[in-house]
Amino acid sequence: MTIKLLTNKKGPQISKYIYGQFSEHLGRGIYGGIYVGENSDIPNVNGMRSDVVNALKEIHVPVLRWPGGLFADTYHWQQGIGPKDKRKKIVNTNWGSVTEDNSFGTHEYFELLKQLGADAYINANIGSGTVQEMSEWIEYMTMPGESPMSNLRHENGQDQPWKVKFFGIGNESWGGGGNMRPEYYSDIYRQYQTFLPQYNPQEPIYKVACGPNEDDYNWTDVVMKNAAPFLDGISLHYYTLPTGDWNHSKGSATNFTKDLWYSTMNKAQFMDRLITKHSEIMDNYDPNKKVDLIVDEWGTWYDVENGTNPGFLYQQNTIRDVLAAAITLNIFHKHADRVHMANIAQMVNVLQAMILTKDDHMLKTPTYYLFDMYQKHMDANLVEIEGVLPDHITYTASQKDGQLTISLGNYDISNNQELDFEFASEFTKIVEAAIITGKEIDSHNTFDHPSEVTLQPFNEAKFENSQLHVKVPAKSVVSITLK
Ligand code: AHR
Repeated sequence: MTIKLLTNKKGPQISKYIYGQFSEHLGRGIYGGIYVGENSDIPNVNGMRSDVVNALKEIHVPVLRWPGGLFADTYHWQQGIGPKDKRKKIVNTNWGSVTEDNSFGTHEYFELLKQLGADAYINANIGSGTVQEMSEWIEYMTMPGESPMSNLRHENGQDQPWKVKFFGIGNESWGGGGNMRPEYYSDIYRQYQTFLPQYNPQEPIYKVACGPNEDDYNWTDVVMKNAAPFLDGISLHYYTLPTGDWNHSKGSATNFTKDLWYSTMNKAQFMDRLITKHSEIMDNYDPNKKVDLIVDEWGTWYDVENGTNPGFLYQQNTIRDVLAAAITLNIFHKHADRVHMANIAQMVNVLQAMILTKDDHMLKTPTYYLFDMYQKHMDANLVEIEGVLPDHITYTASQKDGQLTISLGNYDISNNQELDFEFASEFTKIVEAAIITGKEIDSHNTFDHPSEVTLQPFNEAKFENSQLHVKVPAKSVVSITLK
């Protein structure tokens, strides 16, 4: 059967912020993985490892969420500014009870953003911090004129205010962020956001409320009912666990059965239902879709690698992760009218990471290559299709700058898929075609073999009688750009 792409219609824009990242003070997510300090033997610029920053620049990280996660609700920003040898050492009670020396703080975060060319998404502490503390942090970061906090910023070497694009008020406030009920949280949210000063009314800070855990639809309903006029976005957290079991084994990242491959895919698909239902509830209070859904934690979550600190959430990453991420990103694209930002957890060395490091070595994970491949969809307009794609195929089609990109994931382990496409407007030439695949269901990159799963040229897409014929191999994602 031929699938028709309705290229003559302009669909909603896929926000580039869907490709957002998340870095928490967790394990080697920041320390060692990104920030090694100015005096490290590992090549760095102002403490940020050059190998990692250079790799991330290639995928154009649009936004980076920081400092947590659960860590955010224990974080007191004033401990992370000023001379490093005077910064207070604390215990990271959420993640392995390790000592946190606060050497990566607000200034270092903005230095990292500058090197990456990314926007800021900061998560405030409302679990154990005060309204004043939050308000002063905003003053410290964004007040252009003279004030107690901007003077302090000057003293610490930063004259110009920074730009805070997104600001989260609470993280998982229904759980580790305070164990609040939605009624209580709504009021806390309303209170904190009242004291979020907007020093640059031309570019107001975008406010994100803590949203539901997975399918807690009541949370969305209560927060939207009580706080919708005060917020720009509401978050959603959902992780893909192959076994679905948080308490015992989540499953291994590399050593898994075919059944666990398929259950991972099914669980990734659940994101569609979650967004659909939460969005329907939001529609009741916000029919014009002024409030966005912000999926600021998502990704696969497995048992940690053998011999690593259980509190560090370090896991490997395989071709299975590529397919699970392709399913998820395609769902975000499909809901582009509601999903404005998403932040995969987490950028380096934690959960479904882009980059893994070991001392001075680093590797790009299979998921990194998917983010590289999918850059073509950033800020592009979604293209609708007519026709039904076979089971086990996940897809996105989008247009930007006169080019059409079709991305197709085949998560069948054994069977290739042959597909034919026709177009409502004229496309005749393949500009670029790439594939990510693996020999085995758990093919992955290691420090000894860092290029087992990468982006490769794809030769199985051809024009025949003005139709595009594509053969999508089993367990692969292909992306074809046409003009
Ligand atoms: O990403 C790891 C953790 O998962 C975050 O700190 C928390 O928000 C979530 O439970």
